[in-house]
Amino acid sequence: MLAPSAPIARMKESSTVSSARMDLDWPMSESASDGDEYAKYADVYDVLFGEISDDAGFYIRCAGTRIRPGGAILEVGTGTGRVAEHLLRAGYKVTGIDSSGEMLAHAARKLEGYGEAFDWAKADIRTMGLGRKYPVAVAPYGMMAHMLTDDDRRASFRRIYEHLEPGGIFVFDDMPGWLAGHADGKGLTVRHTGFDKTAKMPVRMMSNCMEVVGKPLSVRYDFVDWLEGDKVAKRLVIRVVFRDISLADELALLKEAGFHEVDLFGDFDGRPFDRHNLSANTRLILRCRRAA
Ligand SMILES: C[S@@+](CC[C@H](N)C(=O)[O-])C[C@H]1O[C@@H](n2cnc3c(N)ncnc32)[C@H](O)[C@@H]1O
Repeated sequence: MLAPSAPIARMKESSTVSSARMDLDWPMSESASDGDEYAKYADVYDVLFGEISDDAGFYIRCAGTRIRPGGAILEVGTGTGRVAEHLLRAGYKVTGIDSSGEMLAHAARKLEGYGEAFDWAKADIRTMGLGRKYPVAVAPYGMMAHMLTDDDRRASFRRIYEHLEPGGIFVFDDMPGWLAGHADGKGLTVRHTGFDKTAKMPVRMMSNCMEVVGKPLSVRYDFVDWLEGDKVAKRLVIRVVFRDISLADELALLKEAGFHEVDLFGDFDGRPFDRHNLSANTRLILRCRRAA
């Protein structure tokens, strides 16, 4: 959770708002995830991100290497159930956990029609104990990047490992700053648009992502605007902090948690991750296996 007293970003004197780097006195130990910020997102998340589906096919194909439709998948950080819906449509059962009750409320409402095939729990990935094991676990759309410290990452990987059956797989994607090159100092860019049917207004999201000086973190400010013609009728400002973990650290922490077999992919089309030509990758995707 974001600590309520988390200090506001402290800009370096020479910085401007569009600077790619910022000085931030961030209490990493207290602010390992963004549950509170996602509470703000919940009502507009599907308007902005609901149509994204390029990752879902990949997760379905990965699940298919281990289980047949009817098998169970654990999705950590399931949010509003964007990916869960695709998995359910493909015939899988899904348990979705998330630390944000607001995000989960949308998932529960949206996926009600799937009955017992979808169950969910409000839980923190670092401490979850669901009392059952799964053949497949997934954490789509950069969920793991919310684990800001090694301790949080380690605890999360360990909890997931413990929730896998022997031979089970865990698949997740990430977009660390060293791969995204997003901290380019070019200022706000429009990243997503959608139409809010309830408010009957178009919505756009502009973002600015900056590296934190001296820490392996990026801070992204999302400005979500509801538009009436040229005017901004309402604006929501959301601050999300990501860990820009190095590949070496990621692999070391996975190994510590017990995952000895890890495959890397560079895109949801399944191409292997290219370590020598980073621009050939659109993502960093990891598929990890618990020993049989
Ligand atoms: C980028 S969203 C991804 C949502 C969904 N998986 C998707 O692909 O659209 C990340 C989700 O992770 C959740 N989250 C963040 N920190 C968490 C934690 N420590 N434990 C469980 N969920 C967490 C957030 O509340 C949010 O719903």
